[in-house]
Parts: sequence; structure tokens; C-alpha cells
Amino acid sequence: MASNENLVFRLDSCNTTYAFKVNSTGHLEHLYYGKKLNENTSFDVLSLKQTNPIGYGISYSENNNNLFFDNLSFEISTSGKGDFRTPAVDIDYNSGLRTLDFVYTEHKEISGKPQLDSGLAQSYSVDSDASTLIVELKDKILPIYIHLYYTVFYKSDVISRCTVLENRTKSSITIKSLASMQIDFADSDWNLVSFDGAWARERNINRRKVQEGKTVISSNLGITGHNHSSLFSIERPDCTEQNGECYSFSLVYSGNFENIIEKTPYGMLRVLSGINHETFDWKLEEGELFIVPEAVMTYSSEGTNKASLNLHHFTNNHIIRGIWKRKERPITFNTWEAVHFDYDEKRILELAKNAKNTGIELFVIDDGWFANRDNDRQSLGDWFVNTKKFPSGLAGISSKIHRMGLSFGLWVEPEMISRRSMLFGEHPDWAVVIPEREPSVGRNQMILDLTRQEIRDYIVSSMSRVFTEGSVDYVKWDMNRAFSDIASLKTVTNGMFLHRYIQGLYDIMDKLTKAFPEVLFEGSAAGGGRFDLGMLCYMNQIWTSDNTDVLARTAIQEGTSYGFSLNTMINHVTTSPNLQTLRISDIESRFNVACFGVLGYQLDLSSMSLTRQNIIKNQIEFYKKNRALFQFGSFYRLPKTHGLSDRTQWAISDQDANNIIVLDFQRETIANPGHEILRIPFADSSAVYEISSRIQSSDTLSIKETETEQYRVSGDILANAGIPLNSSFSGTECNEGTRVIGDFGSRLYIIKKVNKN
Ligand code: GLA
Repeated sequence: MASNENLVFRLDSCNTTYAFKVNSTGHLEHLYYGKKLNENTSFDVLSLKQTNPIGYGISYSENNNNLFFDNLSFEISTSGKGDFRTPAVDIDYNSGLRTLDFVYTEHKEISGKPQLDSGLAQSYSVDSDASTLIVELKDKILPIYIHLYYTVFYKSDVISRCTVLENRTKSSITIKSLASMQIDFADSDWNLVSFDGAWARERNINRRKVQEGKTVISSNLGITGHNHSSLFSIERPDCTEQNGECYSFSLVYSGNFENIIEKTPYGMLRVLSGINHETFDWKLEEGELFIVPEAVMTYSSEGTNKASLNLHHFTNNHIIRGIWKRKERPITFNTWEAVHFDYDEKRILELAKNAKNTGIELFVIDDGWFANRDNDRQSLGDWFVNTKKFPSGLAGISSKIHRMGLSFGLWVEPEMISRRSMLFGEHPDWAVVIPEREPSVGRNQMILDLTRQEIRDYIVSSMSRVFTEGSVDYVKWDMNRAFSDIASLKTVTNGMFLHRYIQGLYDIMDKLTKAFPEVLFEGSAAGGGRFDLGMLCYMNQIWTSDNTDVLARTAIQEGTSYGFSLNTMINHVTTSPNLQTLRISDIESRFNVACFGVLGYQLDLSSMSLTRQNIIKNQIEFYKKNRALFQFGSFYRLPKTHGLSDRTQWAISDQDANNIIVLDFQRETIANPGHEILRIPFADSSAVYEISSRIQSSDTLSIKETETEQYRVSGDILANAGIPLNSSFSGTECNEGTRVIGDFGSRLYIIKKVNKN
């Protein structure tokens, strides 16, 4: 080992450096992850010093009496040698023996990002815009190998990690847990930010100080889930959106995950992320490999917003693929909240006609078009058009919609089976149930066993037939329940089932997205229950939440924006009172919030007045003009520099801050409110900007016909001080300049660079 001692690995992206070394005992010691360091910096000094023994500490060996694993930083940790933190690797290799000791053997560097044979979603590189370091470790005694992959995506400032475990022993071993990534920080003065909630309130931001002991954020639903996101951040306490240090992590995985954040007795911080070990137990036979899901990490010294921009760049360049990668997404009309299950061809065509008149481009028939699907108690699995609703079949309705000049899309939920279905009659053993137990159900349905090849084949062939018959341009792929009663007729053990399921799902999605490369695929799991980078390797975009309430959406979309770019987020304008909260809001405000991402509508256009339809028409016209910005611009959560009212301010900007659009959303009106400031920290300080508010129709809450605001301001003022906006209505008079925003009301400000100073 002596020849490798102090071998240092240094990984550089555009603005960050990551470093670790082989220490005197052959272990990989983590040295640094942060702001880019000078080229010739020596890392020696960064090794954590252990010059005194630790009372009650376990020394690595008699010969290494002053080496205490419990307060060192490692790249990958095991248990049994004195490190009492949660291990990254936990393997039962012989009837309960779990002490392993991995040391460096060799490494290599390759250009690009290798595609591993994991059956999992993974990121990709194009040409040589990434490079990969692979470090091999071996247990000191047994031929069990670990290959650590580090891929640097230079321009995104992202490093992705993957671990491959190889069993070269002569017997099987059991993986109890195997993290996708580990970082040991030398101190624990951090805030943890997680994105939590439940169905219809996904990814609300949850920021707190890291405390002693372990915080585990995980899913055991079988999918990423609504309750927690696999995305999380570690920030310095003084970190803001624009300043300070922040690390963000995300998994390229759609199954049960766990993120462990552990403040240690020595005041260090261990961060682990990977498959949830509680629902995992993997038998690795002699000669087999196990490849974990890829983990993604980024560092920003310029606040949390920059970390988000890094992840957005990474998602758009290394996750989303195919023809939709850079293509503007159409404006959708979706039938769900407009008519639910209550429709026939006549009603659909009427809606489509109205949709077309307003400028909508894609018409999607949501749930209810197949078999006897008149409610959510039946027919999942029977993917045949309901000819009572559509007498000329899928081909007929599709061609009628196409002839109107609209694209055509369908909702499907291929992973499911209803007890009341022909499919269940034919294949009762295809559902995930335990034969001798009454199965629990979610939304009256059961899940198909995707670990079985014949079931995967059925899904691929039935979906291919539907997509072909319907000449579909778009597919919404839904998944509306969590797992229960886990068992499989195939001999996969429980601990392997959920991961094998995800592999099966990815296999199906891979086949279908390759067979239908032109189709725009949208993922959904009762809204945003599967909003993760794994899904986005196949699905071009995701239905952000079943909750379309304007106020709830500001929280959901803001939380989602921490890790996911706006072109992946689908936002629809729906009716008022809102169907999830019964909240009443202004249709213009609903639009203003929905246009930060991919816009759509789900309301009954046919019963709407012409005036209302015209409001939508104007909204769509405005969105089309600015679509490239809303879908592919850089997204900023603006600093909270406003007066008394509780506001959300977002900005979307093109590359050189020439064109910016800002949302100014007000939670509730307060009387006599004080000043509101609009500040754009990233404005070009050498330019002059003109600012105007989008002309909105007067709606329920407005007491005057129109309201216009115009400002002209130099970029340095806009960036550093911000401009005070006109007064809001304050219970006195209301003149032309007064801003009348109302509860849950908002404005869009259009900000254009007019010239240089
Ligand atoms: C899920 C989706 C909704 C809608 C319904 C249809 O809840 O998230 O958007 O498609 O299913 O059943």
C-alpha cells in the first residue's frame, strides 16, 4: 500500500473542487468539496489530525494506535472497525458476519459518462462534456470489490456518484445496505433543507438546523412519494438564495430511498443517500454485481439559487433526452378537472373546439376513455377504447382532434390492475398480492408485478397498440397508489422485490420511449409523487401536483424548483373555487403562477362566457410569446425585500438578463400595507431597463378596469436597491396608479433591457 499512500484524487468542475486521498492504511479519506481551489494547491494539510488517542475510542489496529475511524472523513464507510456512524456499506457475508475493510487497489479515468448495465435510469454525457474517475477497493481478506464512480459534469458544476459491488467470493452474500453516495463534513454547523408534504401538498420547503443524532428522510411507499423528496440540501446557517454555501443532492431513482444526515459525537456531519435499506435485502450470488442508483451532488458558494441552477442545467443536459430535450412544450388542455369521467365524443369535440379557439395546442383525454371506466373502481388493465363513448374508436377521435389542428394525447395508468377488469379475470395472479391474505387497495386498485417478464411484455404491447391506434403525440403516464401486500409469484424475495419492480418499470419505459421517440411523455403519480431524476430519464416532464390551487402552487412549485427545471414542471389553470381547497382566486393570478413552467388548462371551457374565454386567449398569446423564457430560461427565487405583506417573487431570465419576467404574488391583502420593492440581483448593472406590468383583465377582486405600471430604471439600481413599486390599495382612494392585487392576487412584470448606460 505504501506506494499509493497520499495518492490524491482531485476532481474539478467549472466552479468546484472535490478531493480525496489514499491514506496510510489504504482507506479513502475525504479531503474537500467546495469552491474551486488553485491548480497547485496541496491537499496534505486537509487530512484530519489525530495526534492524541481518543478516550474509549477504537483504534484501527495495534500498529495504528492513533487512528480512530470514528472521527475521520471517508469516501465510503463500513462498520466493525471503529466507525460507529451509519455505514455506507453493510453486507452480511457469512451468517451474520458484517465487518469488512475496503482498501484502495487501483483506479482509472475515462472520458465521458459510462452507461452501466444496472437496469436503472442514469444520466448521460455527450461527446466529452464529462469525465469519470473509477476507483477500485477490495476487502482486505475477501474477494469482495467496490468500484466507486465519480463523474464530473464540468459545466453543470455537478458530480454524480455510483457504487458497484462485486462478489468474487465462492458463495452468495447479502447486501443489507449500500449507499449511492457518502460525504463526511468536518463540522456540523449546517442547516438541512428537505422537501416534504403529502398528496396534494408536495415538496414544501422545510429548513432546520442539523441536530445531534440522525435525521432520516426516506420513502417506504415503493415510489419516491409525495411525503418526502429524494432531493435535499445542506446549507450554512447564513446562506441565502444569493449568498453563502450550499450543497444539494438528488437521486436518479424512483423507488424507496433514504437520505441520512447524521451529526456525530465529534461534531462532524455524515451525509448518505441511496436505496432505503429498511425495505431492501439483496442476495448477491457468486460472480454477480450490484449497481446502486446514481446520486447527484452540486456545490454553490453563491447561495441556494445557484445550486438550483446547477441542477437545472444538469437535468436539461444530462437527464432529459430525445427530441423533446430542447423543444418547446405545447400548451395543453386536459379533460380531467373539466369533466372528470363524464364525457362522450360530442362533449370532447365541443371542448376541443373551444380549446382550439383559445390557442391551445394539445388536447389530452385524461382518465375514462377505455373499457367501462366510468369511475375509478374498475377497468385498469383493459386498454381498449370504450366504443360507447367513442364509436369510431381511438383512431376516429384522434383524427377528428387532429383535423381541428390540435395535437392529441391520452392518459394511461399501465402499472395497475382493477379487480373489476377483464385482465384480472384472465390473470388474477398478475396483481401484487399475498394469495392467502385479503389485499389492501389504493384508489380501488392493485399493482401489476413488473418483476415478471410476461407482464412487462403485456404492458409494452398493449401500450404500443394504444399509442399507434390513437396516433398519439403525447402520453400522460400515471401511477395512483403506493405498495402493500408485497409478494411475487416469481421467486424474488421481498427484500429484492421493490428494486426489481423499479428496474422492470424502467425497462418498460425505455422500450416505449424508444419505440415512440416523437411522443411527449409526461409522468404523474397522483400528481408529483414520482418527481425525481429517474423518471425524467424517460418522461420529458412531470405533473407537478394534483393540487392546482394558486396559493398551494406557489409553495409546491417553489419547493420543486430547488432541484428541477421549469420545463419539467407542468402547471394547469383550473376552476375557481379550486377543487382541492375550495379557495376562490382570480383567473389571471392562476395563470401568472402556472406560466412558470409548462402551461395547460383543465376547466370546462364550453360553459365559460366568451369574455372569460377571451381572457384565456390573451393569456395563451402572452405565454406563446414568452414560452422559451418560461420553459428554458434561468429561474430565480427573488430575495424577500418587500414590506409588510407576505409575497412570493420569482423571476425567469434569458442568458444575459436582456428579458426578464417577474411574478409578484401576494398571499393576503392587508390594509395600509407599506412599500413593495422589486429587486433583481442578477440584473445587468451596466444597462437600462424598462419595466411594465402585464395588462390583466379585471376579475372578481378588481375595483377598476385596467391598471398599468411603467418604470424605467438603471440596472445597478435594479440589482442593488430595487425599485419601490406603486402603492397598493390601502383602504383610501383608488387611482390609475394604485395596484389592486387582492388575496392570492399577483402581477407579472415584463422587464426589458433597452440599452447600455
Ligand atoms: C391522478 C392524476 C390526475 C388525473 C387522475 C385521473 O390523480 O394525478 O391528474 O389524471 O389521476 O384518474
